[in-house]
Amino acid sequence: EGDEVLEPRPPVVTVMGHVDHGKTRLLDAIRKTNVLAGEAGGITQHIGAYQIHTIHEGEDRAITFIDTPGHEAFTAMRARGAKVTDIAVLVVAADDGVMPQTIEALNHAQAAGVPVVVAVNKIDKEGANPDKVKGQLTEYGLVPEEYGGDTMFVPVSALQKTGIDDLLEAVLLTADASLDLRANPDKDARGIAIEANLDKGRGAVATVLVQSGTLAVGDTIVAGQAHGRVRAMFNENGEPLDVALPSRPVQVLGLSSVPRAGDTFLVTPDERTARQIAEKREAADRNAMLAKRRKRITLEDFD
Ligand code: GTP
Ligand code: NA
Ligand code: MG
Repeated sequence: EGDEVLEPRPPVVTVMGHVDHGKTRLLDAIRKTNVLAGEAGGITQHIGAYQIHTIHEGEDRAITFIDTPGHEAFTAMRARGAKVTDIAVLVVAADDGVMPQTIEALNHAQAAGVPVVVAVNKIDKEGANPDKVKGQLTEYGLVPEEYGGDTMFVPVSALQKTGIDDLLEAVLLTADASLDLRANPDKDARGIAIEANLDKGRGAVATVLVQSGTLAVGDTIVAGQAHGRVRAMFNENGEPLDVALPSRPVQVLGLSSVPRAGDTFLVTPDERTARQIAEKREAADRNAMLAKRRKRITLEDFD
C-alpha cells in the first residue's frame, strides 16, 4: 500500500433535495451541456449514475453524478457502510424555498461529512427568491460566501438550462479546494453496487461504482452475495466498455444474482474464490438474522 501510485479521480456527486424541486430536470440539463459527450442515442437505459465531461480552467474534467430519487438509496447505502459520495448537490427551488426534505437531505449529507453545493433552482419562476433560500440555509449551517461562509450557492434554471456551467464549476472548485480525490487505477477493482435489477434477457444487471483499481471484462467479482465473471460492461449511454477506471459508474452483466445498493464488490483471483466469499457472506447474514430472531424471542419471554 505504501508505494501505491495514486492518481486524481473524478468527484462523485449525489444530487438531493425536496420532491419536485427539479433534481431530475437538472440532471437532464447537465447531461445536455456535456460538451464532450456524444448524443445519448438509442434506447434510454435506466441507470442511477453517469459521468460527464466539462472544461475547467482549460482542462478536461470528468464528474460522476449519482441520481438518487429521494434520499432512501443514499441512506440505505450509508447504512451498509458504503461511502459513495464526495460532494452533495442540494437542489432547492427558489420559489418554494427550504422544505422538510431539503433539511433531511442536508442532514444526510452532513452526517456523511460531505461538502454541499447548493443549486438554487427555478430562478426563472415568478416569485423566485434566491436570497430567502440563502437566509434559510444559513440557519442550518450552510453559510454563503457573501455572508462569510464557505458554501457555494449557484442560481440555476434547469428548465432554461442557465447556470449549469457555473454549477459544474462550483462542484470542481469544491472538490479541488477541500478534497484530494485520488485512487490507484493499477490494481484489481473495488467499489460499491449502486443499484441492480433482474433483466429477463440479460440476467442480473448491476450498476457499480469503481472506487479503486480498474474493472475489466473477464474479471471475476463478488458483489455482496452475488458473484460471477464480468461478461460485459456498459456506460450510461449503453455503449460497451472494456475497462472502468476509478469513479466510473458502469453496468455489469454476468452476476449470479442481484446485489443490494451499498454492497461492496471486489475482483477475486478466480470464480471459485468469488463463489466462496459470496457463500461465506450468505452464511454470515443467515447467522446474524437467526441471532436477531433468537434475541427477540428471549426478550419477549421476559415480558
Ligand atoms: P422528484 O424526483 O419527484 O423528487 O422531483 P425532482 O426533484 O426530480 O423534480 P423534477 O425534475 O421532476 O421537476 C419537478 C417539476 O419542476 C417539473 O415539472 C419540472 O419541469 C419543473 N422544473 C424543474 N426545474 C425547473 C426550473 O428550473 N424552472 C421551472 N420553471 N420549472 C422547473
Ligand atoms: Na418530480
Ligand atoms: Mg426526480
